[in-house]
Amino acid sequence: APQRPAPIVAPGGLPALREAAQACRECPIGALATQAVPGEGPLHARLMFVGEQPGDQEDLRGRPFVGPAGQLFDRALAQLGIARQDVYVTNAVRHFKFELRGKRRIHKTPTQQEAAACRHWLDEEIALVQPRALVALGATAARSLLGRPVAVLTERGEWFERPDGLRVLVTLHPSALLRMEPPQQPAAFDAFVRDLERARMPAA
Ligand code: URA
Repeated sequence: APQRPAPIVAPGGLPALREAAQACRECPIGALATQAVPGEGPLHARLMFVGEQPGDQEDLRGRPFVGPAGQLFDRALAQLGIARQDVYVTNAVRHFKFELRGKRRIHKTPTQQEAAACRHWLDEEIALVQPRALVALGATAARSLLGRPVAVLTERGEWFERPDGLRVLVTLHPSALLRMEPPQQPAAFDAFVRDLERARMPAA
């Protein structure tokens, strides 16, 4: 594998990074969200899972993947025998982007410019956590991590190597499974778990 460049690590580590992201107004999303949602998990976790952006519940609670998509993600991890507290879980975008419909806040996909503006937060988090491998949950994360558009439906279940030598496993976003018709969900969940099964063998 290519040599990884020595990461440039901010003094202050993850707590300082989390605090700095709270004040981020590099794109328009931050001003409307309740708070920035940092990643969570142990330093030097073997695996880092990257989602798109916080959802409604994550925005309110300040923690990643605690809403419906997070529950599905937790169920997949449990099926794989992976303890959530052993992995690092974060997002490509720090703040929740939404559109108000009445009182409901409806998720809106971040634009490519917004995701690109946010990417340095993710890069700094990766440099600090120093995971052995990354898992991209969905197209936004895959693009942020690989620096190119990714067709998740055709590239899922595969490992890709970044210029820094870190490997990225691509799969669907758990929300994509929740949007499917109920009869299709069990098979889609099994396929998602099979993709993630490969994350247990990053050297494959
Ligand atoms: N969806 C995401 O991509 N991330 C979260 O944290 C929650 C839902």
